[in-house]
Amino acid sequence: MSTKETAKVAPAEGKLGVLVPGVGAVATTFMAGVELVKRNLAQPVGSLTQMATIRLGKRTDGRSPMIKDFVPLAKLDDLVFGGWDIFEDNAYEAAAHAKVLDQTMLDQVKAPLQAIQPMKGVFDQSYVKRLNGTYVKQGGSKRDLAEMVTADIAEFKKKNNCDRLVMIWCGSTEVFRRPTGVHQNMKEFECGLMKNDPDIAPSQIYAYAAINAGVPFANGAPNLTHDIPALLDLARDRNVPICGKDFKTGQTFMKTLLAPGFKSRMLGVSGWFSTNILGNRDGEVLEDPDSFKTKEETKLSVLDQILQPDLYPQLYKDLYHSVKINYYPPRGDAKEGWDNIDIFGWLGYPMQIKIDFLCRDSILAAPLVLDLVLFSDLAQRAGMRGIQEWLSFYFKAPMTAMGLYPEHDIFIQLMKLKNRLRHLMGEELITHLGLEYYD
Ligand SMILES: NC(=O)c1ccc[n+]([C@@H]2O[C@H](COP(=O)([O-])OP(=O)(O)OC[C@H]3O[C@@H](n4cnc5c(N)ncnc54)[C@H](O)[C@@H]3O)[C@@H](O)[C@H]2O)c1
Repeated sequence: MSTKETAKVAPAEGKLGVLVPGVGAVATTFMAGVELVKRNLAQPVGSLTQMATIRLGKRTDGRSPMIKDFVPLAKLDDLVFGGWDIFEDNAYEAAAHAKVLDQTMLDQVKAPLQAIQPMKGVFDQSYVKRLNGTYVKQGGSKRDLAEMVTADIAEFKKKNNCDRLVMIWCGSTEVFRRPTGVHQNMKEFECGLMKNDPDIAPSQIYAYAAINAGVPFANGAPNLTHDIPALLDLARDRNVPICGKDFKTGQTFMKTLLAPGFKSRMLGVSGWFSTNILGNRDGEVLEDPDSFKTKEETKLSVLDQILQPDLYPQLYKDLYHSVKINYYPPRGDAKEGWDNIDIFGWLGYPMQIKIDFLCRDSILAAPLVLDLVLFSDLAQRAGMRGIQEWLSFYFKAPMTAMGLYPEHDIFIQLMKLKNRLRHLMGEELITHLGLEYYD
């Protein structure tokens, strides 16, 4: 079974174009980082594809190659960046505006970043109320806009001599929407594009254009985007791998480290209060209650899924969980996240844990973008289509098959990811049973 799969992985030859709707803080920190790493001016800390090893065979075999040597990934030198934004700034200007990286560091890669000029975005202010884009495509209908994005994709590929492409949404968080009739199948969706259906979001226009053109699509924000039956079907029909949603960084990352630990020891949790201050453009967009609602949904779902209150009502049924984000400009991208966790132990005795995480949002997100780009491209070359659940590791709200609850425990997610790679390369899966050492 696995050897057949190995034979199917096409080599990573030629250039890989990385197309990013939303050339903001995360996207430019990712692009600048890759350029710095390529020049050996910095280390790709936080990236599994660049730094992690994978154990193969028994613990006594001593085989732990780097992931990038084990699976055929695109080389950083072969990445070419492009994207869309609703502001005209090139990637250097946008990075300078975001103030994530020191100006001196940024200036070391000024030339390649200046060369990344975003294409005009598809935008509708009813989806991101706090932004007023000035660099926006004008079209008769949403179908015209989708055709323009399709043409952008083709032109970028040709101009940059790319062999393959990947698209990853790093745009602002859109307002909260549930799927409606227009999202249910491709016929309705395409009809909705023609009729300018208000339920079709800008992010869905990019996702549609990408998937339709055979380009893998990942979503770093919590928007509904391609998590709708119409685009899920399209991805399967076009043999395109897709994944999302919402990069798992900062506070939710901490949650998915701690909550599985409490549950593993059968410790109860009665309350988890989380609050943040954040001063970048993302924080400004999330000031709008409708955009925050999209974020809140993904942030809140995590604990329920990990702690399984239905299975453990004595420990988690009455858990009070609250998440707040406050826009606070002086901190810029340097977010501060506080957690107060009320837990209880033997005989119900209460205890408290306080966390104060002084993090850097885009520094945590950039390596995730890199890994998702490289793994999505690998998935496509391996003929894997539709939802890539093995990439759940990177997301707050992992997409899953209909009716299947997502796996949020980060250690299970990591095991799943590595086993997927072992399976792909015809290596034995690691179950951690370990009986062989004691025979
Ligand atoms: N940084 C993190 O740790 C993290 C974690 C999880 C999710 N996210 C999500 O990633 C996304 C990007 O975050 P950021 O900090 O880079 O935000 P940002 O505001 O710096 O960048 C977003 C960019 O998207 C652009 N944009 C908005 N709508 C667009 C459209 N329709 N087409 C093209 N461009 C559009 C904006 O002009 C902006 O430049 C946000 O949705 C955020 O919620 C970030």
